[in-house]
This record gives sequence, structure tokens and C-alpha cells, in this order.
Amino acid sequence: VKRIAILGSTGSIGTSALAVIDAHADRLAVTALAAGRNTARFADQVARFRPGTIAMASPSALAEVMQALDADVASGIRTAGAGRTGLVDVATCPDADLVLCASAGTAALEAVLAAIAAGKTVALANKEILVMAGALVTDAARRHGVTVLPVDSEHNAIHQCLDGRDPTRVRKLILTASGGPFREWPRDRLARVGPGDALRHPTWRMGPKITIDSATLMNKGLEVIEARWLFDMPEDRIDIVIHPQSIVHSLVEFCDGSVLAQLGVTDMRLPIQYAFSYPDRWDTPIRPLDLTGAGRLDFFAPDLDRFPCLRLAYEALQEGGSLPVVLNAANEVAVDAFLAGRLGFMDIARLIEQAMDAYRSERPAAVSTLDAVRDLDAWARRHTADLARGLQLKR
Ligand SMILES: NC(=O)c1ccc[n+]([C@@H]2O[C@H](COP(=O)([O-])OP(=O)(O)OC[C@H]3O[C@@H](n4cnc5c(N)ncnc54)[C@H](OP(=O)(O)O)[C@@H]3O)[C@@H](O)[C@H]2O)c1
Repeated sequence: VKRIAILGSTGSIGTSALAVIDAHADRLAVTALAAGRNTARFADQVARFRPGTIAMASPSALAEVMQALDADVASGIRTAGAGRTGLVDVATCPDADLVLCASAGTAALEAVLAAIAAGKTVALANKEILVMAGALVTDAARRHGVTVLPVDSEHNAIHQCLDGRDPTRVRKLILTASGGPFREWPRDRLARVGPGDALRHPTWRMGPKITIDSATLMNKGLEVIEARWLFDMPEDRIDIVIHPQSIVHSLVEFCDGSVLAQLGVTDMRLPIQYAFSYPDRWDTPIRPLDLTGAGRLDFFAPDLDRFPCLRLAYEALQEGGSLPVVLNAANEVAVDAFLAGRLGFMDIARLIEQAMDAYRSERPAAVSTLDAVRDLDAWARRHTADLARGLQLKR
């Protein structure tokens, strides 16, 4: 039995991961869980899966969960610390074989590094961590001989296409994007988009942050950066195609012109199960892909003019250094402000570009240690919040 620790068990990926564990109870077990603030859902999960160790974002949330549990369940549980320390504790739990990082944002960066240092296999759904500290995470994985398995469906598809093949024979990686709910909308209509419109994704059901990122195409931009680190590929060999049906999850082009693709239904339980079963493959209760039912598969080039976030992500990668840290932090602040109704949809890219310009003029030195990455991230968040207040005043 493979023992799994999950960071972010109450979210969209976390609950799908628990469903996979439930469907394969003879092969998988939950050993530790961490979540943020959703105490009701977390208490249900803890009662159902009986992990040995649990953590939450705050001590009060953790205490609330412990109180909600029956005495016999609570007595078998060790409570880890709160916040980042709790995440590290769960990620390094001695009996965990694999750590799934499915928490939103960047709080789990230290936990992922700690899991790698402890020799755990890491299944990574969280792209922000690689965008923020891709070099640190992949260097650590190499040094400790640890496997990092991508759960993000596009990178999981590429992992499947590359598995066992010589990476020096790869010409390029091709990431597919659904194009989000506004794929065909003109620029002036995009300016009037509100959070309710942007939260309706046409093909995937996901958490709010990644759903907004899918609507701006920043999600694809973050994925280009994620692919750069996961597969050690320069950005000029990572292409994007818009594929509204989301059936081809991504493709790899080899030097002989052959292109391999991975196809499947849009259900995150599939890439999660692949990561849990790797290098084996297991049966699944999920309905199979019906190609004739799917009908046609379309592919288009992305429009970087209407979706400037994608252009900004490529720029951040091309210029190198620490610009991706700023891009990611500014994006999180901008998405929060948009969701709170304080910014327009097109202001998201405007704000990120302003934060990147400020970094270019004020803090050009690249950072390479964890503390320096955290400092730059904090600077970019403060700076973007100030810029957001300025944009808000002008609205
Ligand atoms: N959803 C998808 O289909 C999908 C696909 C590919 C990649 N991803 C990536 O996977 C990650 C999770 O996405 P999601 O859609 O599952 O997000 P989500 O539904 O918003 O869930 C986020 C999870 O993170 C937890 N969390 C947030 N802050 C935390 C903290 N400080 N400490 C501990 N836990 C914390 C949340 O806990 P509470 O709810 O208890 O506060 C929740 O369990 C993101 O990085 C996303 O980009 C998601």
C-alpha cells in the first residue's frame, strides 16, 4: 500500500485525490492531510480517512476541527503546527511515501522542498511553486534523486508522452489550452467581464484562482514556466495551441517530425491516479473517452493581444532572472482584487505589467535562495497592492 500525504485536501484537486484513494483502497492509504480554512469539510475528511497527522492554516482552525471530531477519532491523530510549519510537518511525515501538493498559492514551497529533502516522491499539482522557485525545486529533486510527477493535466500528458524516451530527441513541447470562457470575445467586451462570468469555465471545474487564470490565459503562461522547469526545456521550444474541446491534453514533437499526444476525458482524477500509480497503470471507474461522441477537435493559435497575460509570462521567462516571481505574486494580488470586485478583467494584465516594469527598474538582481525568493515575493505583493489601489482610484 502506497501511503499518501495531501497538502490542500479540501480543494478541488484534494477532493479528487481522496476520491482516487477511495477507489483504490487496496493500494492507497491516507497518512497525513493539510488544509487551509474549510474546517467543516476537513473534519469530514479526517473522520472518513483517519490520517495519522493533520495541519491547517491557523491554530484556531485546527482546534475547531479537533473539537468537531469524535473522541475515538481525535485520540489517534497527531496535530502538526499551523501555517507553513504545519505543511512542512505533513509533507515530511515519516510514513508517507508520496506527497501530493494541491494547496493553492505558494504557502507550500518550504513543504515541497522539505518533502524532497526527506526523499519523498512528490506529485505536484501546484504550478505557482515551480513558477516562483522552479530552479530551487528541480535542483533539490536532482540532488536528492527524488521524482517530481506532474499532476497538472498538460504536464502529466507530456510526462506520459516522454516516459522512457530520450529527452535529447525532443524538438518541442506543445501545451493545449481550452481558451477559457472568453476565447472569442472582442477586447471591448472583455473590459466589462465580472467575476461571475470569469468563474464559469467551459470544460474544467476547478478552484477560483485557477479558473480566473484560465480566463485570462495566465494559467497557460504559468504552465509554460512550469514546463520549462519540469522538462528542462527553453521557452522558445514550448508552444501553445488553443484546443477548445480539452480532449488532447498536450503533445510532444520529436526530432523526426513525429508528434505524440495524450488524450482523455476532462477529469483530474485521471492525472492524479497516474501520479499515484506511476510507473504502473491501474483500472479506473471513470468513463472512457468516446472519440466519435467528441466529434471534431479544433486547434487555433492564441491571441496575445486580447490575452496579454500569456505574453507577459513568455517575457518573464525570456528575460530570466527572477521576473517570474514578480509575475506570479502580482497575478495573485490582481486576481484577488478582481474577485473582490475592485479591478476590471483587463486591469489584471495591466497591473502585472506595471509590477514587472517596477521590478525591472528597481530590483534587477536575480535571487537564488529561498529567503531571497520569499523577500522578492513579499515586495512584489506589496508593490502590486499599492498599484491596485492606484488603478482602483482611477476607475
Ligand atoms: N483544480 C484543477 O483542476 C487544477 C488543475 C491543475 C492544477 N491545479 C493547481 O492545483 C492547485 C490547487 O488548485 P485547486 O483548484 O484544487 O484549488 P482550490 O480548490 O482553491 O483548493 C486549494 C486548497 O489549498 C488549501 N489551502 C489554501 N491555502 C492554504 C494554506 N495556507 N495552508 C494549507 N492549505 C491551504 C485550501 O484549503 P481550504 O479550502 O480549507 O481553505 C484548499 O484545500 C493550484 O496550484 C492549481 O493551480 C488545479
